[in-house]
Amino acid sequence: AQALQLAYHSIRAKDKTFNLTIETDYDKSIEELDVAFSDLSRALINIIDNACYASHIKQFKITADFNPTVSITTKNLGTTIEIRIHDNGIGIPQDNQQKIFLPFFTTKPPGQGTGLGLSITHDIIVGQHRGNLEVQTEPGNYTEFIITLPKS
Ligand SMILES: Nc1ncnc2c1ncn2[C@@H]1O[C@H](COP(=O)(O)OP(=O)(O)OP(=O)(O)O)[C@@H](O)[C@H]1O
Ligand SMILES: [Mg+2]
Repeated sequence: AQALQLAYHSIRAKDKTFNLTIETDYDKSIEELDVAFSDLSRALINIIDNACYASHIKQFKITADFNPTVSITTKNLGTTIEIRIHDNGIGIPQDNQQKIFLPFFTTKPPGQGTGLGLSITHDIIVGQHRGNLEVQTEPGNYTEFIITLPKS
């Protein structure tokens, strides 16, 4: 996938700096749709960027061996395609789960985040592409963003 490829390369650089494992599992039957979705890169990069950050800072919070891992999976669901971005990072506390898509909501230290990433992503996925964007998370354990996009 072109959009995914781009997003993937953007995190490859980070990978080198903190030993991140990136797992990908792309459904080959959706390759031909890539062109239409090439402008999704920005949306995906924002999510992947957050995922990298969350698994990265977890590394500093725990003493046991920990391997920060981000997995990207695509699936052809017939009339829609599904993209899942999973990380084994810090998770999102219940109180924040409703707020993460709001512009300027951030928990990052000043200077490290504008809080615009997910609101832009939401605009692109839901506003522009009539898709769906959901989050599943368990604080302390994982976060998974699930994007579904209509094929037409
Ligand atoms: N994968 C994740 N794991 C844990 N928390 C997350 C994750 N993704 C988003 N969040 C939470 O949602 C908040 C908002 O995310 P968003 O991408 O909109 O802004 P940001 O990352 O803080 O800043 P920016 O994207 O502008 O650099 C984050 O500050 C963080 O608290
Ligand atoms: Mg962000």
